[in-house]
This record gives sequence, C-alpha cells and structure tokens, in this order.
Amino acid sequence: MPSPKTFYITTAIDYPSGKPHLGHAYEKVTADCIARWHRLLGEEVFFLTGTDEHGSKIAKKAKEAGKEPQKYVDEMVIFFKELCEKLNISNARFIRTTDQDHVKISQGIFKKIHDKGEIYLGEYSGWYCSDCETFYTEKGLQDGNCPTHEKKAEWISEESYFFKMSAYTKKVLDYLEKNAESVLPSGKRKEIINRVKEGMNDLSVSRVNVPWGIQVPVNKKHTQYVWMDALINYVSGVGAFPTDSKDKLNKFWPADVHLIGKDILWHHTAIWFSILMAAEIKLPKTVFSHGFINTASGDKMSKSKGTVIDPGQLVDKYGSDILRYFLLREIPFGQDGNFSEEALKERLNNELANELGNLVNRSIVMIEKIGGKVPAAKTDPDLQKKLNLKKIKELMEKFELHHAIAEIFSFAGACNQFINEKEPWKLDSKKKEAVLYSLADSLRIIAILIQPFIPQTAEKINQQLGVKPGLLADCKFNKLKAGTKVKKGEILFKKIE
Ligand code: MSP
Repeated sequence: MPSPKTFYITTAIDYPSGKPHLGHAYEKVTADCIARWHRLLGEEVFFLTGTDEHGSKIAKKAKEAGKEPQKYVDEMVIFFKELCEKLNISNARFIRTTDQDHVKISQGIFKKIHDKGEIYLGEYSGWYCSDCETFYTEKGLQDGNCPTHEKKAEWISEESYFFKMSAYTKKVLDYLEKNAESVLPSGKRKEIINRVKEGMNDLSVSRVNVPWGIQVPVNKKHTQYVWMDALINYVSGVGAFPTDSKDKLNKFWPADVHLIGKDILWHHTAIWFSILMAAEIKLPKTVFSHGFINTASGDKMSKSKGTVIDPGQLVDKYGSDILRYFLLREIPFGQDGNFSEEALKERLNNELANELGNLVNRSIVMIEKIGGKVPAAKTDPDLQKKLNLKKIKELMEKFELHHAIAEIFSFAGACNQFINEKEPWKLDSKKKEAVLYSLADSLRIIAILIQPFIPQTAEKINQQLGVKPGLLADCKFNKLKAGTKVKKGEILFKKIE
C-alpha cells in the first residue's frame, strides 16, 4: 500500500504572558478544523501548536510575579494546554520553546547561518516594543508608539548580531511573486509584496541584555532574539533540521500551512522565508493570515478596558462545540469578526438546535417508532442532489471554512424540508421506510462532514445511528446498512432564550 499523503499544519505559538484569550482559541479551532478535514481525506496529519516562552516580555512578567522565568512559564503553560483540551484540539504535539530539542535546533540554525557568514556582529540602535518583541524604525512608529500595542517603544543601543536579511530582498520577492499560494488570502500576499519591495533591512538577531533566552551558539554573552527562536519551532516541532537527518518526522516538512494572525504576517513571510533560505531549508507551502476577533462593538479586546474574552468560561457555559461552531461559521475566515453572546445564542438556537438538533431528533424518533432498526431502502435521489460535496471540498481547499459549514448545514436544512414535504407519518410502511432510510443515510454523511467543525456532535450522532466514524470517502449515499440499530440519545442542543 502506498503511504498516505502527509499534511503538516501549525499555529502561531502563544506568549504565555497572560491567560489565553478568545483570539488564541480562534486560531486553534480554525487550525483544528483544517487538520481534522485532512484526516477525513485519509491523510497523515501532524498538527503543531504551543507556546513562545523566551524574551524580555516573559522575563518582565515573571519578575512582576516574583518568580523565576522557568517556573513562571511552567505554571502559565498549563492554561494553554487546558484550553486545547477544552476545545477538543487534536494537536499531535504541544511545543514549548524551552523544550530541549527546540533549543538545540534553534542554535543549530543560528550557527549554520553564522558559519556561512550571513550573521555578523554589529551595534543595534533603534526602537523596540517588548510586547510584540519587534524592532521599529522611526517611520514604523505612530507618535512614538508601537502600531500594534499602542504603547511607547523603548530606545535600545547595544551590541547585537545581525542577520543579512537585506540580501534576501530579491529572492523573497521573487518567491512571493511566483507562488500564488505562498501567502493567503491573496490580498495579504499583495500587501507583503508591496512591503518587501520597499526593501528589507538586516535584522538584529541577538540581545545582550535579555538573559531569558536561548544562548547564541557562538557567543555566550548573547541570547537569540525571540523571533529567531520562536519561528524555528515549526522546524524543530517535527525534527526537520539538520536537513540531511533521516528522522522519520522529516517527512512532514515543508509545512503545508502556517496559520497565523494578520499582525505577525511580516515575521512569517519576510523574516521566516529569509531565515529558511539562508539555512537552506524548504519554504512552507502556505502562510494563511486570519483576521482578528473583536468585541461585540468591533473594538480590539483590551486588558486595560477589561474587554478580554475568556474562551474557557464560554466553553464552561455553552460547551466546546457551540463555541467552535460560532467561531467557524460567524467569522469569514481571513477577515475580522466580532464576538457577542447574543450572536452566539442566535446561531445556537436557529442553526444548531432548530436545524441540526431537530433533524437528528425527529429522524431517530421516527425510526424508533418502527422498531429502532434502519429499514432496507435507498436514499431518495432528489434528496441526494441537495448535497453538493464537490462544492464543500472546493470551499475547504480554498480555506472558506465559514462557507463550507454553511453548505453542510444547507443540506441539513434540505433534510428537514424533505421531512416536511414527505410527511412520513402519513405514509404507508414501504414509503415511510424509504423516507426514514434516506434520513438515516443522510445523517451518517452529515456526521462525517461536521466532524472537523463540531467533533463532539458528530460523535453523538454516530452513536445514535450506531455507526463508526467515517472518512470523506464514505460520504456516498446508500452505504448505511439496513438493520443497523439506532438509539435516541440526549437532546443535542438546548435552546437558550
Ligand atoms: N508569540 C508570537 C507568535 C510567534 S509564532 C512563531 C505571538 N503570540 S501571541 O500570543 O501574541 O499571539 C498568538 C496568535 O494569536 C497570533 O497568531 C495572533 O495573531 C493571534 N491573535 C492574538 N489576538 C487575536 C485576536 N484578537 N483575534 C484572532 N487572533 C489573534 O504573536
């Protein structure tokens, strides 16, 4: 048997400088949906997420908490791991930049570029924002403030190693221009192309005054700049360096998708692509930039304004599938969106409860009334036509997750309409059986398709139907065996007024 196609997806790794917020949850849920979809395709998936634990920002927080940085991150990382569990995230590894294999590979890459003569010692003078751990030019600041964090950048003047990133301007530009899928959505690729065209400066890649970091392999006085450490997690997460290593996990590199938020697109394209080129490592196929999730009024979540939304609390209140569904359906993937509990309740009541929950409940109850076994029949050909599997696949390939789930739900809607039109309770037993088989068979397919979005619900439907989880290849009608025993379960979604 040929080995299955591999698929490697990563998220950004979060700063554990505070508890995770809804933005972190959003990224994990969307990446999980894509990872699960590729598993449905029968691919061998490696899904990586984790935490970015070094640097001045973390060191500052640890100090404020009166703890050693290592102890501080060990305690904080628990919140991030818990969030993954709560949200049913199917990551293969949770990488921490304090993991020893990461530290080694990170130093290995630094050393390789240094030994090639592309990292040199110099003096850094400039503006630095420790919140995003990013250097800015005077022009890049807004009234002296970091454009992302809206707080004063600090002036730094110190000895530093520099990576000759400027030498990669043309190569990165060529790569971006020739590879339409290198950055998605396409508008973001254009944005980056225009910025790279303005030229790239050499990048300061070490700090002398930030002891909480990975030691520079060629000079003990320095630690690696936190982005020169963090970005490398994607390679170290699967042991893909040195590139000639025969490690079995190397089969996953290059990554298929780096999923990140729009605020760190420059780091993941201009900087990351240059580092990879310099280290002679293949570039990822796609960097996908998602939008930001904002408060109900469309403002950024802000600690000082007390508008940060805690995803853990939402899961406790509603359950993970309801939050996942909302995030995946409400926000056009690649664009910004707002979160409000009102909007979430509306989707819960109108779509999850009325559309899907109701369909499952009505269908199973009717089958129980005729003895609780799937009757022998064939699925109604007109109903079959209502499922546009080709479209769903295309939407998923284009990362239009919100449209894909809407399309799946439109089939659930068609099944409800089918019940209303056929009125099986009025039919003789043969005709009634044909309707009920059609419904059970359709539900089996719906459970497969919703699995990447709302996996717990998919599992519950499978249990009620008495079937095992299927793959996309099983989304063919008439595959449900007659005689399968169904059993009504708990109501899937309770409405909230
Ligand atoms: N540690 C860096 C990433 C290093 S990746 C090699 C970082 N961490 S972060 O904790 O600030 O952000 C982690 C991810 O969450 C980023 O992709 C970021 O864009 C995303 N989000 C942060 N706030 C967000 C929203 N409000 N909405 C959606 N995603 C957001 O950056």
